[in-house]
Amino acid sequence: MNDPAPPGSCNSIDDLAAALQAEGYFADRRLATAVFLALRLQRPLLLEGEPGVGKTELAKALARVLARQLLRLQCFDGLEQREALYEWNYTAQLLHLRAHEGVASASALEQEVYQPRYLVRRPLLQALEAPTPGALLLIDEVDRADEPFEAFLLEYLGEYQVSIPELGTIRAAVPPVTILTSNRTRELSDAIKRRCLYHWLDYPERERELAIVRALVPQAPTALADQVAAFVQQLRASPHGAHFQRAPGIAETVEWARALVALDTVVLDPEVVVDTAGILFKQRDDVAALDRALAEQALQASQAGA
Ligand SMILES: Nc1ncnc2c1ncn2[C@@H]1O[C@H](COP(=O)(O)OP(=O)(O)OP(=O)(O)O)[C@@H](O)[C@H]1O
Ligand SMILES: [Mg+2]
Repeated sequence: MNDPAPPGSCNSIDDLAAALQAEGYFADRRLATAVFLALRLQRPLLLEGEPGVGKTELAKALARVLARQLLRLQCFDGLEQREALYEWNYTAQLLHLRAHEGVASASALEQEVYQPRYLVRRPLLQALEAPTPGALLLIDEVDRADEPFEAFLLEYLGEYQVSIPELGTIRAAVPPVTILTSNRTRELSDAIKRRCLYHWLDYPERERELAIVRALVPQAPTALADQVAAFVQQLRASPHGAHFQRAPGIAETVEWARALVALDTVVLDPEVVVDTAGILFKQRDDVAALDRALAEQALQASQAGA
């Protein structure tokens, strides 16, 4: 056995998986390996996967494991550097100018308004300035940002430094642990993929999903939790999965288990499945597709596989 590790230093893949689990996150071996390597090699980790498979949650849990401050940059179409990196607080600068007008020279005033205290720090800059042990930077849904922003990000990830014309270069004392997530609404550039370690986060296998349901919905009776996990697996797999546009994610499974508990459900039956289909699916056609006949078939199949 290794010596007890100081917080945040996981000596093996198993240690890391156990530490994540202690924070309520269940990772399979492949994911734990990807995270372990990203930490060891100090490379950003790009996680791609369907909605609700635990991409964002991994970053949150890892921040807790590493006792690092979580800084999250939520990407969207039209995201600009000033929202991601920094901007000057123009209002405060203007007030400063007004208050000192006629008192200080123009050049002195110019220096005064470009002080760090008038700098509004956004997540990418905060991540460079985070005190030891450094930050965990989550660049969430990077596929939603546009290509120019992606190019800028590439530069940032390459150097972990930023040059602010009025203040100089700010370099990370401790590079942030960086996780990027993508739902794949568009293909990311090869350049950014090359910069990162890549992991495709798939739907969990049944045992792991059951463990998540048990951990997050402890009030669910064991038999019900079993049935929920098995049933959702059936809905994702062929042939039943073919009826749906978007399979339920882990988030939906957990929410469904909570709803069933709230309804005092002890055993799944086709009726309760149809009545609660709106929790498993978020698209009208998918909700409609889960009719009584399909619910019955999938229930039978999930019980046969149990
Ligand atoms: N491996 C896991 N262990 C524990 N809980 C999980 C796991 N994966 C997902 N969850 C649960 O599912 C919820 C949704 O996960 P999360 O928000 O991370 O999905 P996502 O992949 O980021 O989805 P989206 O692409 O829609 O943002 C989490 O809040 C958490 O409760
Ligand atoms: Mg997410």
